[in-house]
Amino acid sequence: MPTEATTPDASGPAATPGTTRMIKIFDTTLRDGEQSPGASMNLAEKLEVAQALNELGIDIMEAGFPIASPGDFDAVKQIAQVVRGVTVCGLARCNDKDIDCAWEALKHAPQARIHVFLATSAIHREFKLRMTPDEIVQRAEAGVRRAAGYCDDVEFSPEDACRTEHDFLCRVVEAAIAAGATTINIPDTVGYATPGEVYDRISMLRNRVPNIDRAVISIHCHNDLGLAVANSLAAVQAGAGQIECTINGIGERAGNAALEEVVMALKTRHDFFELRTNIDTTRLVPTSRLVSTTTGIAVQRNKAIVGRNAFAHEAGIHQDGMLKERSTYEIMSPEEVGFAKTDLVLGKHSGRAALADRARQLGFLLTGEQLQSVFAEFKKLADKKKEIYDGDIIALVGQEIGDSVEPQWKLIDFEVHDGRERTPKVTLTLQHGQQQQTETVEAGDGPIDAAFWAVERITGIETVCRDFRVRSATLGRDAQGEARVEVEHKGRLYRGVGVSTDTVESTILAILNAVNRIVSQTEMPDEDQPISSEW
Ligand code: KIV
Ligand code: ZN
Repeated sequence: MPTEATTPDASGPAATPGTTRMIKIFDTTLRDGEQSPGASMNLAEKLEVAQALNELGIDIMEAGFPIASPGDFDAVKQIAQVVRGVTVCGLARCNDKDIDCAWEALKHAPQARIHVFLATSAIHREFKLRMTPDEIVQRAEAGVRRAAGYCDDVEFSPEDACRTEHDFLCRVVEAAIAAGATTINIPDTVGYATPGEVYDRISMLRNRVPNIDRAVISIHCHNDLGLAVANSLAAVQAGAGQIECTINGIGERAGNAALEEVVMALKTRHDFFELRTNIDTTRLVPTSRLVSTTTGIAVQRNKAIVGRNAFAHEAGIHQDGMLKERSTYEIMSPEEVGFAKTDLVLGKHSGRAALADRARQLGFLLTGEQLQSVFAEFKKLADKKKEIYDGDIIALVGQEIGDSVEPQWKLIDFEVHDGRERTPKVTLTLQHGQQQQTETVEAGDGPIDAAFWAVERITGIETVCRDFRVRSATLGRDAQGEARVEVEHKGRLYRGVGVSTDTVESTILAILNAVNRIVSQTEMPDEDQPISSEW
């Protein structure tokens, strides 16, 4: 790989040494990210994330896979209708039905893109698609042509491109561009490639595909070997003009390239890459927080850029250096990526506007209704705790976002008896509509297990607990406990979140939140289930 960014721009005229080329950021948090197990979002959540991504300054937003389910279709349609200033993209397999459906969802977007994909590697051709190379080329051409009949912004992805024979990849790419593709995305679908290989593959395409200058080359890397970011950076060094990535790196299996890492690598090492993006980096942490809260996928403490410890200096020698000169141990500043300067925020006398403002700085744009309900909880908390920290607000908002499904079952009261040598006993009262129901369960390994049984007995909804975590939202013994559960019901995963200064209560709230998600899901028509994955 060269050490200077002197390669020409795939999307325009050759860049001369020393000039800065713009890299498009294509965010697929709402599509590939949402495919992570347990990460599915409802419509309100997707709209909220879409607004945040727009504020972040991404260029293209992959809003979903419209044919996958009516829920996906509606989300893409609504995002296309409300989001402005960004290209909204919908995914489609290479067939008429998918492409027509994608366009139907996208057609109201001022800037729309249809993203068509078809696998090209020998392994996918033979075992999954059972198609010959000629059939693949014909199908790719036909799909791109159909999409291009709807809009002039068409992306084509040869799925598993990084394991596709060079000659065949060149042939498919050339045919797709001739049929109207304006972006050619090169996915490392299984996260198998290395940075050197990605560099060579992009260079090879640029050298061998005769019409390549008519399309932007894009890169889409999965993180199975932990190389997604490095591979994406290698691709842009080789001349790719677009990176596909997700917030916090969420996505299929080990995830996708993390947007915040790609962007900060390009920014911090501008001296090396000489590349730019449109991202407002001060929105990285707030957006990361929103996505984590919404999907329930926690960000590891030591995660680059947005992890809680990303800017914490523990070793004495480091602290000493930092006090003398920050750049001794810091290559970027916490403020630059959106970490707030102060943590101590509000108290009993703080008003609604102050709460809304703080929530916004933390990454949450609350609607009037959400603010109303978070403010009510905030006041209750302020009676119990003198000082309310950012962590408290994040937890309260997290619970509100979790409740964005209409809660059918509400907690009225509970009582717990437990001890080292006794069977736990939980008495639970829930409300459904106008009716209240009470059950006592004396069983289980502990009060949490007993609470699960009690909820199941009252609601009649059977679940298997797949994950359960409680963490304190802030420091101190009076801190709120945030409980998160992931439960399985009829083969699907549902998550729930609950917050209270009493951790048993937060757990019961989390279980109920998951149950309410199950109820709202089963009330949808049957066909609102994901399509079986034949791709
Ligand atoms: O990983 C992949 O190959 C994809 C394609 C649909 C672009 O997500
Ligand atoms: Zn992918």
